[in-house]
Amino acid sequence: MRPPVLLLLPVLPALLGAAGAARAELRVRVRLPGGRVAEERLQADSAGDSVGLELREPDGALVSLTADFRKHVKILRALVLGEQEKGQRHFQALCFLTRLRDQDIIPSEAMAKLRQKNPRAVRQAEEARGLERLHMDVAVNLSQGALLSPHLHTVCAEATDAVYTRQEDVRFWREQGVDSSMFKALPTDTEQALPRCGQAGDRGAPCVCHYGLRLAWYPCMLKYCHSRDRPAPYKCGIRSCQKSYGFTFLVPQRQLCPWGEDP
Ligand SMILES: *[C@@H]1O[C@H](CO)[C@@H](O)[C@H](O)[C@H]1NC(C)=O
Repeated sequence: MRPPVLLLLPVLPALLGAAGAARAELRVRVRLPGGRVAEERLQADSAGDSVGLELREPDGALVSLTADFRKHVKILRALVLGEQEKGQRHFQALCFLTRLRDQDIIPSEAMAKLRQKNPRAVRQAEEARGLERLHMDVAVNLSQGALLSPHLHTVCAEATDAVYTRQEDVRFWREQGVDSSMFKALPTDTEQALPRCGQAGDRGAPCVCHYGLRLAWYPCMLKYCHSRDRPAPYKCGIRSCQKSYGFTFLVPQRQLCPWGEDP
């Protein structure tokens, strides 16, 4: 059976904004691990050179990825539902920032041109990119976040005290001229030998938290086609990937990591 087609088409004039820039949104249906089907929102802003996607995980968490190509920043945000009967917050927001690499996701100009022939088609990733484990050892002060990426304020607004990144990414952004006063190195868990949050302990005590999320389907690469009418291969579609992330980070209080070890 052939996979459902996602095409790259010329941008329609109706989608062109005043500056001639395209902002586009596409909704696709994707198969989640465990078999359920979810609707995923894909967004592109080719003027701002950014793309985004949003998807609800099987456990109810709302996960989004924002890729700011101009500033080389990738934002993964999770809104995790709390269990109110256990005295937890309605939801908890987490924001993880890492350096964006060009091969992470398709460029904004290609994302803006994505169209689908059959909106009811349920999509499954063609390629599994596996699990990436990330140790987040830097806290980000959101009040100066605009210096890093203009998207931070809106995307991470609800995560004010839970915006994390890594020393190696900070080093890269500093080389790009980003002011580093918004970054604060966190003590590493080996230095402090802090317990994992899943273990029994004082609700108000600091611990090492783990959070895992999965992007079940996203357009990760461009596909090229050959035609007798054209001298060179041309972009004609996308290749889709699936990828999981496992984040480790320090929380000042165990109650900020209510899902324990693995959600
Ligand atoms: C974040 O930065 C603002 C403005 O520079 C400062 O007033 C505030 O104390 C900082 N917050 C933390 C938690 O360091």
